[in-house]
Amino acid sequence: MSKQTATPSSSIEINALVRRFADGHRALDGVDLDIAAGEFFTLLGPSGCGKTTLLRILAGLDTPSAGEVRIGGRAMAGVPAHRRSVNTVFQSYALFPHRNVRRNIAFGLEMQRLDAVTIEKRIDSVAGLTGITTLLDRPVDQLSGGQRQRVALARAVVNEPDVLLLDEPLSALDAGLRGRLQLELRELQHRLGMTFVFVTHDQQEAMIMSDRIAVLDRGRIAQVGTPPAIYEQPATRFVAEFMGHENLLAVTGRDEHGVITPIGHFAGAFAEGGHLLIRPEAISLGRRQAAGPSAIPAQVVGRVYRGGSTEYRIACGDHTLIARASDPAAEGFEPGAEVNATVAPAGLAVVAG
Ligand SMILES: Nc1ncnc2c1ncn2[C@@H]1O[C@H](COP(=O)(O)OP(=O)(O)O)[C@@H](O)[C@H]1O
Ligand SMILES: [Mg+2]
Repeated sequence: MSKQTATPSSSIEINALVRRFADGHRALDGVDLDIAAGEFFTLLGPSGCGKTTLLRILAGLDTPSAGEVRIGGRAMAGVPAHRRSVNTVFQSYALFPHRNVRRNIAFGLEMQRLDAVTIEKRIDSVAGLTGITTLLDRPVDQLSGGQRQRVALARAVVNEPDVLLLDEPLSALDAGLRGRLQLELRELQHRLGMTFVFVTHDQQEAMIMSDRIAVLDRGRIAQVGTPPAIYEQPATRFVAEFMGHENLLAVTGRDEHGVITPIGHFAGAFAEGGHLLIRPEAISLGRRQAAGPSAIPAQVVGRVYRGGSTEYRIACGDHTLIARASDPAAEGFEPGAEVNATVAPAGLAVVAG
């Protein structure tokens, strides 16, 4: 634990994984993923898309109907949970209520029959990493939710597993604490160098924390990529909407310069797909008389100040778009103002579906 370079970590290969339940429902419907050793990898998707099912299979708590999992190059078929170098942190803390913090963390080490001195050294080290040094002698039933989740994390990493699985570990916490723990968890993973597979349904959380994200849609991988790739170039309409994008226009035609939509022509967008995504930060608003050839006439219908940026809702014909201006020198517009919208081509993506 203290020697960072010696911390183990493992790659994970998932091939054609299927999990069919007794009712015939396919919670996982042909999942392929390669997760690198030492990566902070996030499974992102709405409730019911198969995230927990996939984690349980990685942990050895559930068995696939078809397909294969390899951890550290080793096939996991038939390897029981306790023989895998994998630990799991769940949303609910699952601590022993009658043990204090120190004895909770010690539990797994005692099971391995490590000597008392080694156990105490490991506990002190992991307590420092997770920020619970001053809590070690407290009963767990006197801890707050955030403190309990830190203890659960300490208990999961103290065994030095090659892989840590985290199933929505922060979703029960209030927003402020959650934001702090997101950054701390990310930092902890960097220091440990351990492979983390993190599950969340929150796209902001996934973007803040991950090296790469896999977006799941009804038991299938919709897209795998870095946070900027997923946010800026979503592959499908599902991914775009799940990442919070609202500016999606049907592609009604194409020419050599780009695509045609109901509100106009957009140069510089070429990919195949049925919808054009316009990122809100790529739209700039100007006064109507400053008309450029590529400007779209629009009317401001709403304005929300978000601290550091202002979000405008603008009507272009029958369509409403969101434009986000973060330049403090940008001109402010009142609702009702007639404006021209110009769109930077870098803010466009054509998505499937
Ligand atoms: N033991 C089970 N028997 C039948 N269906 C299940 C079982 N476990 C999960 N499911 C179903 O599989 C789908 C995926 O569940 P789950 O992996 O828990 O989703 P998530 O964690 O993404 O919310 C859901 O439709 C769920 O109802
Ligand atoms: Mg779940």
